[in-house]
Amino acid sequence: MYNIVSAIFLAENIKKIEIKAPRIAKKRKAGQFVMIRVSENGERIPLTIADSDPEKGTVTIIVQGMGKSTIELNGKEAGETIHDIVGPLGTPSHIEKFGTAVSIGGGVGTAIAYPTAVALKKAGNYVITINGARTKDLVILENEMKAVSDEAYITTDDGSYGFHGFVTQKLQELIDSGRTIDYVLAIGPIPMMRAVAEVTRPYGIPTVVSLNPVMVDGTGMCGGCRVTVENEIRFACVDGPEFDAHKVDFKNLSDRNRMYLGEERQSSETASHKCRIGHQQ
Ligand code: NAD
Ligand code: FES
Repeated sequence: MYNIVSAIFLAENIKKIEIKAPRIAKKRKAGQFVMIRVSENGERIPLTIADSDPEKGTVTIIVQGMGKSTIELNGKEAGETIHDIVGPLGTPSHIEKFGTAVSIGGGVGTAIAYPTAVALKKAGNYVITINGARTKDLVILENEMKAVSDEAYITTDDGSYGFHGFVTQKLQELIDSGRTIDYVLAIGPIPMMRAVAEVTRPYGIPTVVSLNPVMVDGTGMCGGCRVTVENEIRFACVDGPEFDAHKVDFKNLSDRNRMYLGEERQSSETASHKCRIGHQQ
């Protein structure tokens, strides 16, 4: 059992949870993830580590309550426990001094863009962050992103805060202004990552995305997380989760992620009493 040290909602349905896991806190690097089981018979949920404190021995994850297990996890409070947490897993982000690096977080993907922005800044890059959400109330980690950025932009789809439009429109505006961009990292929903790849492709700007396929074991054994990159099968849990955005087959990723929607819906319905508790937070 692992203790939850703190748990707070950052936005509706999006919770920041700090878990005592000293060995993971000591070892983890930007871009890596953990597999969590909330209860003994629960499914394993892959979650990227948003932050860690090696001295306190804690890791922080940011969870969007979308299916049965993430809603159950979001129902947990400080002082409660989760059944197990395994990690750090995955290949760390490739970090070097690129020059000007743009880190883009779409919605809850900002939780993953943030630690990589921190690492890019530490490596001496000029860091620009673009933090996009559908509306003002869904913007997360605004202060944290600002603190590691040389330039920080917020975008909202409805124009309720910051730049009115998608993250890709802000990126295009930066490119059109004629400045040199040496590296782009984009993390968020699949349509967003695909759109970022198409913005940077004509300019040959190296672009990396963090993929979120269905995962089961997280160690390269089950094949569940296979993705197609440059016409080759790769396993996101061990070869990734970060890949060259210009080589990813996003359609295949999106089709595979839809494969279990029926089962997920059924599972959420069977546990509907838990869902109501999660929504009351
Ligand atoms: P969202 O749908 O609210 O989108 C967030 C932002 O992404 C938008 O504000 C917009 O700026 C941009 N965006 C969305 N669609 C776009 C498009 N077609 N073109 C250009 N920009 C676009 O995001 P959300 O609800 O927070 O995200 C939920 C999804 O993100 C889930 O499907 C979840 O699985 C996925 N996700 C992925 C990762 C990952 O590792 N890649 C991490 C967390 C969440
Ligand atoms: Fe099983 Fe990646 S999750 S191979």
